[in-house]
Amino acid sequence: MVSVTKVAVIGLGTMGAGIVEVFAKGEFAVYAVDGTTELAERGRGFVTKSLDRAVSKGKLTEADRHATLDRITFTAELTDLVDADLVIEAVPERMEIKHSIFTALDDIVRPDAILASNTSSLSLTEIAAGTRHPERVVGMHFFNPAPVLKLVEVIRTVLVDESVADTVRELALQLGKKPVVVGDRAGFVANALLIPYLSRAIALYETGKVSRVDLDNAGRVGIGLPMGPLTLCDLVGLDVVHEVCKVMYDATKRPSDASPSLLRQLVLAGRLGRKTGQGFYDYSADAGVDED
Ligand code: 3HC
Repeated sequence: MVSVTKVAVIGLGTMGAGIVEVFAKGEFAVYAVDGTTELAERGRGFVTKSLDRAVSKGKLTEADRHATLDRITFTAELTDLVDADLVIEAVPERMEIKHSIFTALDDIVRPDAILASNTSSLSLTEIAAGTRHPERVVGMHFFNPAPVLKLVEVIRTVLVDESVADTVRELALQLGKKPVVVGDRAGFVANALLIPYLSRAIALYETGKVSRVDLDNAGRVGIGLPMGPLTLCDLVGLDVVHEVCKVMYDATKRPSDASPSLLRQLVLAGRLGRKTGQGFYDYSADAGVDED
């Protein structure tokens, strides 16, 4: 079983930057990688902003903020990862991008290094089967916001070495997370529960019979979830919700699993939620209070 001290995270969007923060706070040395120096610097900005917020709330000392940032090497060079023990891929959900990264990693990292994917929708088995060592490929799926939410899904394929899945599960515990182990299936476990609920909420909103705010209040106040479903879609990213819907529909062919038409339209229009400034709600600075 490989002992993990050096971790690399590839892709520094919302999820990747959050995962970098989790490992750096857990005192691991972290390579934070994105495709260009500009993207790597943008990732540094995300992590720094999140740590600054923790300092301003009195949850992190200034010294710990510095120490956490000092553990992270931001880079645009995959070849820096020669000594990584665990690499977590968190790039956009397109199989061809995943394949090209895992193929490149085959030639860079040690044969005993673990390769993990944070994919929320794609087949882990397909990702693993495209590599030279599918037995070391596993899912390590964090939830948004990664620094806050405790759940980590450890996804096992039929090809994985049991010790690899065990190591990743142990690591999640070490990070203070709650791991659940699941086989490779559409939506794994958490999204198989959550996405039909979000999709149903969007379809209900599309009927015009309920406002955004009332619908969200029904989910938040009535069902007791921390956020209403449309607000949650905006947090997760409408493109991500749409992709998971597609994968679940492909697996079940149940009409109720199909991506709702409004969701498809918003994705086509580039209104992807908080990350683009607009989704079901408007997050732009001059939007004011978005009441209904
Ligand atoms: N990074 C770091 N910390 C954050 C954060 C972020 N992005 N967002 C919020 N926080 C912290 C805050 O600092 C605060 O910490 P404190 O209580 O110690 O001061 C705490 O989280 C609560 O934040 P707020 O007071 O600002 O706001 P809320 O109480 O409304 O909590 C929330 C925000 C944590 C996002 C909460 O609303 C929540 O848990 N929402 C549900 C999120 C959820 O369900 N995520 C799963 C989505 S599914 C998914 O990701 C899978 C994918 O595959 C689709």
